[in-house]
Amino acid sequence: MVKKVVLSYSGGLDTSICIPLLRERYDYDKVITVTVDVGQSSSNLKEAEEKAAKLSDRHYTIDANEEFVHEYIFPLIKANGCYEGYVLGTAIARPLIAKKTVDVAKKEGADALAHGCTGKGNDQLRFEVVFRTTNLEVVAPMRDLDMTREGEIEYAREHDIPVPVTEAKPWSVDENIWSRSIEGGKLEDPAYVPPEEIFRWTASLEKAPDRAETVEIGFEKGIPISLNGKKLDGVALIKKLNEVGGKHGVGRTDIVEDRVLGLKTRENYEHPAATILLKAHRDLEQLVLTRPELKFKAMVDDVWAELAYHGLVDDPLMADLNAFIDKTQERVTGFVKVRLFKGNASVIARRSPNALRFEGSLDQKSAEGYAKFYGLQARIFKKRME
Ligand code: ARG
Repeated sequence: MVKKVVLSYSGGLDTSICIPLLRERYDYDKVITVTVDVGQSSSNLKEAEEKAAKLSDRHYTIDANEEFVHEYIFPLIKANGCYEGYVLGTAIARPLIAKKTVDVAKKEGADALAHGCTGKGNDQLRFEVVFRTTNLEVVAPMRDLDMTREGEIEYAREHDIPVPVTEAKPWSVDENIWSRSIEGGKLEDPAYVPPEEIFRWTASLEKAPDRAETVEIGFEKGIPISLNGKKLDGVALIKKLNEVGGKHGVGRTDIVEDRVLGLKTRENYEHPAATILLKAHRDLEQLVLTRPELKFKAMVDDVWAELAYHGLVDDPLMADLNAFIDKTQERVTGFVKVRLFKGNASVIARRSPNALRFEGSLDQKSAEGYAKFYGLQARIFKKRME
């Protein structure tokens, strides 16, 4: 019997060497590769396709841009999706990539599912929580074999696999329309200052223009729907903001994050559109939601982000939280102006038909009674201490 495995394939070094490894070390006869287009650069996709044509038995490229933006990024914007203060990027795309890989495995009648994640990171969990909803075998060659980067490069050369990374620049990059993350090599040392060359989407502060630029984003029910007065679909809007924001050096993050397994890891990210949209969205919420709503939603958002980071998007709690969040977003409609300048995105104006500003005339005198009771307990306490 022919044994088939479907591999979630990025075209990078790890997943590329997985192809011969699955044949040689695991005895699969056919390796089918799946690359899910979630907005990574076209050169990235092309590279994956070209390598797959050479290495795998059959290859699928699946365009999931629309679905990614509408079903994953939009809920993230509504939830102000940040984990430990950084914009969720890689985490949010993994469940969709895993689901599309499962779809191909079902269509192909495959015996197994494979991913190229190591045993140190979060992505193995995000993939497998989806893969294991099937009864198929799950294989993770990079985790099983625990190869060194040098060993991987050597194995790749032996198998005639083009190596995009070198010993001197061994960056591991993950990209989708929302975020680009760069890790590995010297970057693992939190004390190492990242070289400018790791950045692709954002200009350095030195190269950013000396003139500020303002963008106006229109929101409807928590979702961005227009840019500078022009209606735009989410995919186009995010691409445009990545371009404009990136030009001004907006959206770099360098943090040490707590991985699911508890490892502290240094990570670099670029996400211009995400920075702009999340700032604008959060600002608009501040104008239209009540103080108790804002306070409670911040807690809900925090739980949402942790579930998303952990890849637990199918936990029923996620849907419960989204139900609450969607209810709050019914009023998050309006416009926000953001000024981009030398790495900063600052909100400079906002308006909404649902703003909760009091606009009548205030009877200031009647606040006096409130002031008399205000802080009463503390005042009694203070007196007693005298
Ligand atoms: N640490 C991040 C996360 O778990 C990103 C990992 C992305 N991988 C990479 N090769 N840069 O979400």
